[in-house]
Amino acid sequence: MPNNKLTPDTLNTLDALWKLEKIILDTLDFREVVQKVVDAILTELGYLDLGYKVVVLALVDEDEQVLKRVSLSQTTEARKTREVSELPFDQIVIPLNEEKNLCIKALKEGTVQITQYFPDILTPPISPENAIASQKNAGIKTSMVYPLQIKGKSIGIMIFSMNKREEEVTDQEKALLRYFSDLVAMAVQNSKLYSHLEVERSQLKILNEKLEQLDRLKDDFLSVASHELRTPMTIIKSYLWMLNAGKGGQLNQKQTEYLNKAVTSTERMIALINDMLNISRMEQGRVEFDIKKLDIVELIRDILVDLKVKADERKIYLELENQNEQMFGFTDLGKFTEILINLIGNSLKFTREGGIKVKVTEDDNYVNVSVIDTGAGISIEDQKHLFHKFGRLDNSYQTVAESGGTGLGLYIVKLYIEGMRGTVQASSDGINKGSTFSFTIPKSPPPAQPKTDLTKQPEVTIVKN
Ligand SMILES: Nc1ncnc2c1ncn2[C@@H]1O[C@H](COP(=O)(O)OP(=O)(O)O)[C@@H](O)[C@H]1O
Ligand SMILES: [Mg+2]
Repeated sequence: MPNNKLTPDTLNTLDALWKLEKIILDTLDFREVVQKVVDAILTELGYLDLGYKVVVLALVDEDEQVLKRVSLSQTTEARKTREVSELPFDQIVIPLNEEKNLCIKALKEGTVQITQYFPDILTPPISPENAIASQKNAGIKTSMVYPLQIKGKSIGIMIFSMNKREEEVTDQEKALLRYFSDLVAMAVQNSKLYSHLEVERSQLKILNEKLEQLDRLKDDFLSVASHELRTPMTIIKSYLWMLNAGKGGQLNQKQTEYLNKAVTSTERMIALINDMLNISRMEQGRVEFDIKKLDIVELIRDILVDLKVKADERKIYLELENQNEQMFGFTDLGKFTEILINLIGNSLKFTREGGIKVKVTEDDNYVNVSVIDTGAGISIEDQKHLFHKFGRLDNSYQTVAESGGTGLGLYIVKLYIEGMRGTVQASSDGINKGSTFSFTIPKSPPPAQPKTDLTKQPEVTIVKN
């Protein structure tokens, strides 16, 4: 017979290993996997009929610096060792500095320890007399302690107790036990990691739900607060307007001055409320874009008419390059107007001398609009903070007379532009060297989208300041 033919024994052994590996792969819960493994080892060893009766798994507890019993095979012999034991199984805890205990020795040295004498592995914490009684009751002759190692570090031990003498343990058996121990070490490691992950995952889930809840609350609050604030503010504004127009009688100079301040603040408040409403609607995906093919140059020309008045007031220029060309892009007229008013409004605010130029160019895919001013400029450091929510820059070089603003304008500009498949960017050669804000409008129509059910909201009016 050829030598390399599988004997029934090797087949059984392979089968035993295979079953064990399967348990390890299939079971992720730590307690469950160790119990299953310990039982399976004994069952498999039992089939191999090698006289193994009790298997114990003990693991290091790093925090408490002890070796703790974790699992015990569910066999008659195991029950018998416990019947007479003075301590319940899970209280058999050995401090890591009890070097004389063979469990600790196996653990620390990473070597297999063999004994015929139960106190070697049970004392402390169990008294020698009681350990001997346990051994007798279960009919154990020999116990072998195997270290469980992961990457050279001992994480625990396994005790295999049998009703035969040490000399009867074959090399093959020892190799098998070694292999079992390695597998168990791996299983313990895996399932421990997994248990950890499970805990973290469930904690994350709870946190996430809380965050989502808070986020909804914030959205609701924003919507409600903005709506409720807008109505009285609008009423205040119209009464102020009436007063200012002399409808309540002639005003003296001081009264007019105070009234104008009140009007300005009210308008700013309304602008802020509108901005917050717009943002909360954008963030909730409740803003619809009415995208049409439009001549961008013509559109800008129209928008500039109103803004020119303001530029003239400030004695700065506002002009459009390539006035007479036509460049078509796909955009939402209202949103585009808002974007441009925001950008030019900023330039007006931060430009004392010179003026503002709007430039339109196009390439294969986009129409590009740039708003170029000769104003305060933006330092390299500050450029990083642009386009963020409440992104007003807190710096000295930009102090302007009417420096009021919400710091929401550029954030909305970005949301709108990106919502229309474009990009926006800012650049500046530095402080007092002017700023350029550029954005793109696609020349191709947007992909057809299924209509979503949008809860209708009252239209938001653009307040120009
Ligand atoms: N053209 C510009 N020149 C200089 N700084 C600008 C310009 N546009 C925007 N900024 C800076 O970006 C900040 C944010 O702008 P924005 O979001 O429109 O808010 P707001 O106009 O309410 O201050 C401004 O406060 C200003 O510091
Ligand atoms: Mg602004």
